[in-house]
Amino acid sequence: MNQDRRSFFYTLLHSTFGIAAGTILASRSSYAKSRRKTTQPGLVLSTWKHGVAANAAAWDIIVKNGAALDAVEAGARLTEANPEGRSVGLGGRPDREGIVTLDACIMDQHGNAGSVAFLQDIKHPISVARKVMQETPHVMLVGKGAQQFALQQGFRKENLLTEATRKEYQQWRKKSQYQPIINIENHDTIGVIAQDQHGNLSGACTTSGLGYKMHGRVGDSPIIGAGLFVDNEVGAAAATGTGEAVMKTCGSFLIVERMRQGASPMQACKEAVLRIVKHQDYRDMQVAYIAINKQGEYGAFSIRPGFPYAIKSHDLDTLQPSDAYVQK
Ligand code: GLY
Repeated sequence: MNQDRRSFFYTLLHSTFGIAAGTILASRSSYAKSRRKTTQPGLVLSTWKHGVAANAAAWDIIVKNGAALDAVEAGARLTEANPEGRSVGLGGRPDREGIVTLDACIMDQHGNAGSVAFLQDIKHPISVARKVMQETPHVMLVGKGAQQFALQQGFRKENLLTEATRKEYQQWRKKSQYQPIINIENHDTIGVIAQDQHGNLSGACTTSGLGYKMHGRVGDSPIIGAGLFVDNEVGAAAATGTGEAVMKTCGSFLIVERMRQGASPMQACKEAVLRIVKHQDYRDMQVAYIAINKQGEYGAFSIRPGFPYAIKSHDLDTLQPSDAYVQK
């Protein structure tokens, strides 16, 4: 391992945000509060605070009897277009070379999937992912090929590095240290999963990935089964947080499979988190999952406190904290 790689992984695992082992306890809080069954089909779940606005955009489509696929794309696009968000689309933090690279994927009710990774200069990777799903025989396009395809499909090139993120990057360059700040805008991918009024499920996931990541790094968000998985007979799940941990455990696929076996959405999310903490050094990472099932139940679980998720249905419009493995 060269010095660059060694210092990257050292700082990844040993940032200044370590926690005392004695504070780690499995959550004992009730599953009941997240097992609410919605009264009539129609439900959107999104990650983090920016999920509230994403849910509103998605709900506009659901409530007009639109398809879950259109709803999740609309929710994801709203977040991608917001220059204030530092981890998605326009205004997302660049990599170590100062280049913004984007990952996204989408799945529909038929089990179709589309994905783009390491995409540059295109504001709406989620819509490019949808085009990959619908206009090509493939699932995933990356880098220059993904950009070339996007341009052929009518997307236009834009500079996604805003003045604010350029200044932050220049500041970061002075030390060039990778120090993840748990829950603070470093991994807050938007995942949007929805059930429409016809009962069909779809999901979308989009991110600029880890701020100041190595050039060429791709996370979990464009990986079907890691950042997102949908099975219209069972449920849907999405991930946010340290993508490496999610990829190594196929987190979203695992959640959907556990729901197939009878676990509630929250139980399934918790089991996926436990799979990470059992084998990986989770001291300096956050990973969180959201899930919904075919019956309209939903849930979430995270490694540590500080992960809120947004819920929208006919009778709910809230942002609530998930239960967590680590208790303060
Ligand atoms: N979960 C987003 C990433 O790790 O890139």
